[in-house]
Amino acid sequence: MEYVHQPVLANEVLEQLVPFGAHPLMIDCTLGEGGHTSLFLKKYPDLRVIGLDRDHTIIEKAKHRMAEFGDRFAAVNTWFDEFLASYAGEAPSIVLFDLGISVYHYEESGRGFSFGRSEELDMRLDPDAPFSVADIVNTFTEQRIADIIYTFGEERYSRRIAAAICTYRKTQPITRSDELAGIIRQSVPSSYRYGRIHPATRSFQALRIAVNGELERIVPAVDKAIELLVPQGRVGVISFHSLEDRPVKYLLRKRADGCVCPPQAPRCTCGGKPSIKIITKKPIAPTDDECRQNPPSRSAKLRVAEKLEVTA
Ligand SMILES: C[S@@+](CC[C@H](N)C(=O)[O-])C[C@H]1O[C@@H](n2cnc3c(N)ncnc32)[C@H](O)[C@@H]1O
Repeated sequence: MEYVHQPVLANEVLEQLVPFGAHPLMIDCTLGEGGHTSLFLKKYPDLRVIGLDRDHTIIEKAKHRMAEFGDRFAAVNTWFDEFLASYAGEAPSIVLFDLGISVYHYEESGRGFSFGRSEELDMRLDPDAPFSVADIVNTFTEQRIADIIYTFGEERYSRRIAAAICTYRKTQPITRSDELAGIIRQSVPSSYRYGRIHPATRSFQALRIAVNGELERIVPAVDKAIELLVPQGRVGVISFHSLEDRPVKYLLRKRADGCVCPPQAPRCTCGGKPSIKIITKKPIAPTDDECRQNPPSRSAKLRVAEKLEVTA
């Protein structure tokens, strides 16, 4: 079997997240094809990994890849926030998040993640999720489409794009990824059409985030992961854009500070104590070499935090 996704910041992740204890446990919240997990299992013969992914097709690839590790690996087809919220098992010494989607989704899934391909416009990680991208562009109001594209894509031409989508769908439903990319391309100014990135990049990102509820899952999951870790255990979060990174940065700062008093309070009265130490004062970025060899890693940022001993 071929694996198309290269794990990003692999050396840095292995350097920062070191399992400890007799038979340590890691939870890989975004298993994908298992790139990171397989590196950990190879490097640490006593390590066990629970790998989570909401996409059942990619999980099958990961299971195949991890077969050599026997019962040191278990896969669960689930949303990471839901799994962690109800997890009552052994405490992990590492929790890893590598947010977003895999190269597999663009290149092999056939679900319309890539604007360069002609595929059914779906983009759901969970096939049972209530609506697909085709449902959004064919049935949501123009205002709602514009809001999605603006909020989750930070797309400055969101209104023009939403208007073009709604005009087009009066004549026929939008069903294919390249069809949607063409509508977006035609709706933006020519300077943008021939700009640094494809004019549909931000809209496709926004629609994908919307169907999968990606952003709202991150903070509750990272927060819960910290709670679950053994003392001195570490959480690592790799993000790919500021909408993912910013809330993680604020959560880690809040946990490292401990105080939950309102910012205008003259002094702390809540008695909150720090629960983590931030290891990466500045997030770790890929080297120039990695960016060259693996272009999807270009925008990656790794933040790491260590859980403190709980004091009474
Ligand atoms: C960037 S890829 C992970 C790649 C993996 N680290 C590797 O090296 O092969 C992210 C994976 O997480 C999954 N995913 C994204 N958000 C998720 C969520 N909230 N819950 C569960 N899985 C999620 C996606 O389906 C995708 O396979």
